[in-house]
Parts: sequence; C-alpha cells; structure tokens
Amino acid sequence: MSSPLLSKRRIAELPGDFLDSTGRIFATFGPPAQDSGNLSFGVQTPAGRFFVKTTDPDAAVLLPFEERTVLLRNAAALAERCPHPAMPVLKNVLESPVGPVLVYDWVEGELLRRNPGDPASAHDRFRALPVTDIVAALDVVYDLHGLLAGAGYVAADFYDGCLIYDFAAKRLQVVDLDHYHLGPFTNRMGRLFGSSRFMAPEEFEHGAVIDERTTVFNLGRAGRTFLGDADAGEEGFRGGERLYGVLEKACAPDPDDRHESVKRFLEAWRTAIDGQLVPS
Ligand SMILES: Nc1ncnc2c1ncn2[C@@H]1O[C@H](COP(=O)(O)OP(=O)(O)O)[C@@H](O)[C@H]1O
Ligand SMILES: [Mg+2]
Repeated sequence: MSSPLLSKRRIAELPGDFLDSTGRIFATFGPPAQDSGNLSFGVQTPAGRFFVKTTDPDAAVLLPFEERTVLLRNAAALAERCPHPAMPVLKNVLESPVGPVLVYDWVEGELLRRNPGDPASAHDRFRALPVTDIVAALDVVYDLHGLLAGAGYVAADFYDGCLIYDFAAKRLQVVDLDHYHLGPFTNRMGRLFGSSRFMAPEEFEHGAVIDERTTVFNLGRAGRTFLGDADAGEEGFRGGERLYGVLEKACAPDPDDRHESVKRFLEAWRTAIDGQLVPS
C-alpha cells in the first residue's frame, strides 16, 4: 500500500500537520531528551510504521538551523550511497517549509544508550547476553562500518545511543549517522560532538586529524563496552584474550598504534572471533 509520506516530494504544511493527515503519530523525539535541535516522529500509516526526522528552525542549540539541514541531507546521501542491512532504509526525502523531512523505516527494539542508575536498562541487559549474541551484533556494526569506510566515510558522534537492539529477533540497527564525514578532516572544534565514552583522544584535540583510525577507536570502544567494562582493561572482559588484543589495539591512544584502517580492524576481529570465542 502506498502513502503520501512515501510518494510526495514537497509539502506546503508543517511536517507535524502533514504527518497527522497521513496517519497516527505514536512517538515524538525532541527536547529535552534530544539536544540536537532535531524533531522526529514515529508514525503509523496504512503503509506501515515510519521514523520521520526533521529539524526545528526555532531550536536554541549550538548549531544554526542551516547547518542542521546540511546534516540531514548528509545523512540522506549516506543512506543512498551505502545501503546496508544494519541501517533502516531511507524511504523518502520531502521538502517542507522547515527544510528536509527524512522518512525512514521504523526500527523495532530498544536504544542501547547507557543509563546509569537503571539496572534494567537495555544497555545492561544487552551486556548480560551470551557472548555469542553480543559478538554477532557487534559484527553487524563493524560490517556496516567496513562498508562506510570503503565509501570514504569517517565516523562522528557514534556511540551506544546510535544502536537499537531487538532482543526477541536478536537484530541490531544503527541510526543517526548524520555527522559522518566523507573523507578525513581536521578537528576545528576542540571537543567534537559525541559521547566521551566512545571518543578517541584526537576528538578532543583542536587541529588533530580525524580519519579512519578514529573510527577504529570508536568501534573498539563499542566492543570493549559491551563485552566487558571499557575502562577496566582485560579484567571482566568476556570475549577472550585474542579478541581483547584486537580491541585494545583499536583503542590505542596514538592513531599510529591502531589498526591502520577499518578494513584491517575488521579482518583482525573476524580472525579472532573465528579462532577463539569463550562460551558464556
Ligand atoms: N529508524 C528509527 N526507528 C525507530 N526509532 C528511531 C529510528 N531512528 C532513531 N530512532 C529513535 O529516535 C531517537 C532520536 O533519533 P536520532 O536520529 O538519534 O536524533 P538526533 O539527531 O536528535 O540525535 C533515537 O535516540 C532513537 O531512540
Ligand atoms: Mg541521536
């Protein structure tokens, strides 16, 4: 079944009003939970459920509205260039009076963003899964980044808040790649956007180069976070010695000491998970 949400190229009304006319808004994402200036919706339509992302011209956030629309268009270009089973399909981009409106497939599951103080958080339940399930989910994330790096994309603002896991289907999806950058770039901000738990030293350093090796660090942190305690070293790491070695190298403070590319990291990871996996 079709929907104007999927077929229209342009709307004259505000996105919220348009969405009301196409179906039922069952979720909204904006302030205070989101500090990005973006405003997103879950919409149930006769053609299915969708995640619709817009940015609010009146949001009082660090980035001006124009730059936020550029980020949304960047996300749209990435989704078109690099389709991958770990990313929701981008179904349509509409032009509205408040800029682009991105229509993605709705992802079922729970956000893995860490929530200290909530022992029943999806983050903690995911970390408590059998090692093989965590490794399988990480492998999907790493495979996606292999594809993205091959297309020239450097990760930015990647953290556990980009990961949605469906515990029943054991399916992991990656969302919010708006800040990913085509090609290496120089850090002109000092502290870049992102969660410090996942960020490499160069992401805090004005003038530093951000490249694939930064992505390698971000991915390594994800592995160490979910298979153990990222700040506790090998103590409590559940993936075995070889895998720990691969992730530790990924997280070396000096980019020169890391795997030289996402491809090399992926190769080392895959060799280690084939050879040595400690059963949970
Ligand atoms: N395709 C999707 N399906 C379902 N929920 C999603 C989808 N994409 C994002 N979300 C949810 O919406 C929230 C906000 O989306 P996100 O893209 O992170 O926006 P922002 O740019 O404001 O950070 C996410 O934290 C996640 O919970
Ligand atoms: Mg986000």
